[in-house]
Amino acid sequence: MTSSKRKSDFAVPEVEDFDSPHRLFSDLRSRCPVAYSDDLGGFWAVTRHEDICRVLTDWQTFTTTVQNVVPPVATTQRRPPLHLDPPGNIPYRNAILRFLTPKRIEAWRPRIEKMVDRFLDPFVAKGGGDICAEFSFVLPIALLAEFFGLDGEEAERIRTVGAEFNMALQRQDLETLRARSDELYSIAAGLIEDRKLNPRDPNSDPTASLLAVRVDGEALPDALILGALRQFLLVGIIAPTTFIGSMAVHLARHPEHHGEIASSPDRIDIALEELLRLYTPYRGFARTAREDVELGGRMIRKGEALAVVFTSGNRDAELFPDPDTFRLDRKKPDLLTFGRGPHMCPGAPLARLLLAVTLQRIVTRTSRLELTGEVEMTRWPEYGPLTVPLRVFPRTTEGERL
Ligand code: HEM
Repeated sequence: MTSSKRKSDFAVPEVEDFDSPHRLFSDLRSRCPVAYSDDLGGFWAVTRHEDICRVLTDWQTFTTTVQNVVPPVATTQRRPPLHLDPPGNIPYRNAILRFLTPKRIEAWRPRIEKMVDRFLDPFVAKGGGDICAEFSFVLPIALLAEFFGLDGEEAERIRTVGAEFNMALQRQDLETLRARSDELYSIAAGLIEDRKLNPRDPNSDPTASLLAVRVDGEALPDALILGALRQFLLVGIIAPTTFIGSMAVHLARHPEHHGEIASSPDRIDIALEELLRLYTPYRGFARTAREDVELGGRMIRKGEALAVVFTSGNRDAELFPDPDTFRLDRKKPDLLTFGRGPHMCPGAPLARLLLAVTLQRIVTRTSRLELTGEVEMTRWPEYGPLTVPLRVFPRTTEGERL
């Protein structure tokens, strides 16, 4: 049987709301945890925590070199480390990990706090608006611009191009997407040229770190360094954008949680983990079966694509009792938000810091959020809102502002 002849177990809905993907995944987990759909190019949705872990850790059977996301994106360029299986991914990954250690990231805290304030304070002062357009589409790319050591005009350029790229991707505006993608490549190429002429410390500069790598005495190929930088620019901005929108929706729906988090600043990190579990922003990272293999009682054929649905695995009741409820008493939850195995997100400490500061600032600068219109949602491979129209109630008295 080939994938084109398979009967679909589910259809990918044309239109979704904030909750509907969770209802679909809950249904699949209970009745058909490894489910085939003819939509989005044809793929298996792997929805249970255990099966997702198996796919991600068994990279000998499930390769990342063919299709990285559902729906597939036509790409002519290889972007390591995500597009390479071990051991080819390792030099790129090590070069990235070198400057993303938790200790180095913590040193970024004051700059991140300043950046969050710069974008959030005017939003709060004017009583709200669309938090996605005015805050979450702007913040992550501004951070990455600093992270890559871009200044002046280049930083401004990447902020604009990155935000437009992100918006085009989420709305599947393919023409704009291609144009902005080319610009991102050109910014990355400019960085490589500049760092060759003006060397920087590989321990703190991402481009210098990739340029410094030697494998058997040889430098990494320029084309792959370019792909790695371009990928870094992409993956680093997408998830925080939609996730901040999800946090805002949750706080607006649950003023009691808003108050609870504001009144216990020492629980910000725990609250963030629970939100990262409930509103996991990636559902469509993909692998391809190298051979016929059984998974969750289904026979996956060689060459078929599988989406590891993190958004679903994080609500698997086997691991997380009462899975749809926000609870601050979960003991060391085994989250899949940042993946697992050889490609597990190296940016997790930076993402967590950025999001914890954002959450802390939102709950302490405001006393309440109120939804004032419809929440527009993104599509596969992400989960989360593209627009969240909000009225925000600034904390007014000194006593209220922590
Ligand atoms: C909420 C924010 C984020 C989430 C949920 C997230 C999630 C993920 C996941 C699930 C993967 C693994 C994909 C797979 O196995 O196919 C991944 C990979 C990656 N992420 Fe993140 N990420 C986030 C933010 C960031 C940031 C801020 C950076 C950069 C500083 C970053 C850099 C990367 C890179 C370079 C990879 C590829 C790693 C490899 O292939 O070895 N991510 N991310």
